[in-house]
Amino acid sequence: MPACQRDINIYPTSQSLMEAAATHVVHHAGQAIQERNVCSIALAGGSTPKRLYELLATSPFHTQVEWTKIQVFWGDERHVPPEHADSNYRMADEALLRQVPIPPNHIHRVPGELPDAQTVADRYEAALRTQFHVPEPDIPRFDLILLGMGLDGHTASLFPGTPAVDESRRLVVASWVEQFQAYRITFTPVLLNRARQVTFLISGGEKAETLAAVLEGPLQPHALPAQIIRPNPGHLTWFLDREAAGNLRLLQ
Ligand code: 6PG
Repeated sequence: MPACQRDINIYPTSQSLMEAAATHVVHHAGQAIQERNVCSIALAGGSTPKRLYELLATSPFHTQVEWTKIQVFWGDERHVPPEHADSNYRMADEALLRQVPIPPNHIHRVPGELPDAQTVADRYEAALRTQFHVPEPDIPRFDLILLGMGLDGHTASLFPGTPAVDESRRLVVASWVEQFQAYRITFTPVLLNRARQVTFLISGGEKAETLAAVLEGPLQPHALPAQIIRPNPGHLTWFLDREAAGNLRLLQ
């Protein structure tokens, strides 16, 4: 695996982690807009990033982003309609998107309401390629992708033991997740590792053991899919709170 540049930032609390992450998002959005007049961001789902999204929607951060030049996507989504309680789109919409002046046609949600999961993935991949004006076989390049990590080392919806972890051609796939008895729609490593900047947000002591295995243990991406994230030539940044980082040797 080619090495990639990565840096690890550890903060005393989850709140200070999220404040630093908000500054990080503002910085990368401003840099992308300065260089290309647009910033493409893929949001993470789950519960961790909600506080970040709430911060970005409030002072001082909400006035520091040129929202009209942001194109927002989701790195993964549950196979549910947008109004569903489990929808990653719904969480981000309520916490951030309806609070800021981002044009509605800049919000590219996964069409999770469609009954067939593979069709959802196909449509999302096609929409990505259209938005980026990047036909096959080229790969769209996000300016910033936010990710979380589950207790089992999954990220986005790349779960241990699923074929999505090994996907080497598609940008977006539908992945059956046994423990949920449900499909997830997810960016693949192909798309994730093409990004200019990939940033993990990980908080809480319950993740400390898994995080230490991901960052300091042997490379085993089928068991710990977060290890598959190695953007190159892009940059990988970890935003951790002290509890999540508690088992890292670098802290000993
Ligand atoms: C999802 C996420 C998923 C999430 C991790 C961590 O759709 O659930 O994309 O990858 O980031 O499961 O979830 P928490 O932030 O809730 O711990």
